Amino acid sequence: MLINTGSRTEYHIHLEELYNAHNYHPLPVVLEKGEGVYVWDVDGKKYVDCLSAYSAVNQGHCHPRIIKALNEQASRLTLTSRAFHNNRMGEYAEFICKYFGYEKVLPMNTGVEGGETAIKLCRKWAYEVKGVAPNKAKVLFAENNFWGRTMAAISSSTDPKSYKNFGPYMPGFEIIPYNNLQALENALQDKDVAGFMVEPIQGEAGVVVPDEGYLKAAYDLCRQHNVLFIADEVQTGIARTGRLLACDYEDVKPDILILGKALGGGVFPVSAVLSSREVMDTLKPGEHGSTFGGNPLACAVAMESLNVVKDEKLAENAYNMGVIFRKRLKDIQSELIETVRGKGLLNAVVIKPFGDNKTAYDVCLALMEKGLLAKQTHDHIIRFAPPLIITEEQVHQSCDIIQDTILNLS
Ligand SMILES: Cc1ncc(COP(=O)(O)O)c(C=O)c1O
Repeated sequence: MLINTGSRTEYHIHLEELYNAHNYHPLPVVLEKGEGVYVWDVDGKKYVDCLSAYSAVNQGHCHPRIIKALNEQASRLTLTSRAFHNNRMGEYAEFICKYFGYEKVLPMNTGVEGGETAIKLCRKWAYEVKGVAPNKAKVLFAENNFWGRTMAAISSSTDPKSYKNFGPYMPGFEIIPYNNLQALENALQDKDVAGFMVEPIQGEAGVVVPDEGYLKAAYDLCRQHNVLFIADEVQTGIARTGRLLACDYEDVKPDILILGKALGGGVFPVSAVLSSREVMDTLKPGEHGSTFGGNPLACAVAMESLNVVKDEKLAENAYNMGVIFRKRLKDIQSELIETVRGKGLLNAVVIKPFGDNKTAYDVCLALMEKGLLAKQTHDHIIRFAPPLIITEEQVHQSCDIIQDTILNLS
C-alpha cells in the first residue's frame, strides 16, 4: 500500500508513476482546480495556464455557460449510441454546419478520430467520385505534421518518436515538405493523389507558420488537380489564431475541415469533420462510426462552446491579445531567445541551448516556479497558448513572468 509521506504533489505523481503507462513526461505539478485563465495545484498555488490543454480550453477553464449546458444535458440524457436518434444531434448538425458554412458534418470524439475520418472520406471519394483505381488512392501530408497517435497518424509522421518500433505502417501516404508549393505541385502530377491533409500552422512541430499565401496557393493547386484540400484545424481552429479558422486568413474554405479540442469547451472530447454532400454522401450506413460520436452531451457542450466563442468575440480577442503578447516576447533582450513566432494566441519562443545541456524544459520548470504553466515542444521550443478569454492585464502579468524568468536564466 502506498503511504503518503511526502507532499501532496509527490503523492499524486508517485501514484501515476507506479500505475500509469509512462507515455508522457509532464511538468511536476498536480492541478486540482481551474477557473478562466488560472489553474491551482493541490497545494493551493495559482498559475496562469499558458497551454490551455493544447488549445482545448480556448473558452477558459470551467466556463460557467459551458458547465451549465453540460450539467443540464447530463441530467437528462447523455448517450444513446447511433443505434437510435437523439433529440440533440440533428439540431447540433444544423448548428455546426451553418456556423462553419458546410453542407454536412460527421461527429466524432477526439481530434485523431477526426483525421482518420477525413482520410477515410477522402479515399472513399477518390474511388467513388474521382475514379481512382481500387486501393491506389494516395493522401499527401506535410513533413513534421502532427495529428495524433493512431496507426494512420504515425504512418504519416516524420518524427521517429512517433513512429519508431510501431511498424508496419499504413500504405498510401506520401510526405512532402511543408510550405513548399513546388513540392506540392510535383506530387499532384500523380493522378492517384486524392487529398492533401495539412495544418494551417503546424502546432506540435513548434508553431510553424507558413508563408503568407501558401494555404491559398496550395488550395488552388489542389482544385486544379481535383484533389481534396483537407485542413486539420484541430489545434488552430475555433478562434485560436485570431480568426475563427486559421484558413480564414487566406479566404480558403477547405474541402474537408477537421475540428476538435476547443469544440468540447475544455470539458469533453468532441471532434467534427465537415464537408460537402458530394464527399460526405459517399458514406453509407455501417461504413464508419463511433459509439460516442454525436452523443447528446457532446452536442449540447459543443453548441454552447461555439456560442461562447461568438458571443465573447474570442477570435477578435485572440488577435488583439496576440499582437501584445508577441510584442512583449520580442522585446525581451536575452541571448536565450532565438526567435518568437505565431499568430493570434498560438505563439512560440525558440530557445537556444544554454547552461549545462539545459533545454526548453528547464525554462518551463522555472516558469512553473514563478506561477506560469507552459510546455516545451521538442527540446528547444516553448508554446504559449493561453485561454482566449485572457485580458490585457493578464497578458502583461504572463509576459512579466516570462520576461523575469528568461532574464534570470540568461
Ligand atoms: C493539429 C492536430 N491534429 C490532431 C490532433 C489530435 O487530437 P487528439 O489528441 O484530440 O486526438 C492534435 C493534437 O494535438 C493536433 O495538434
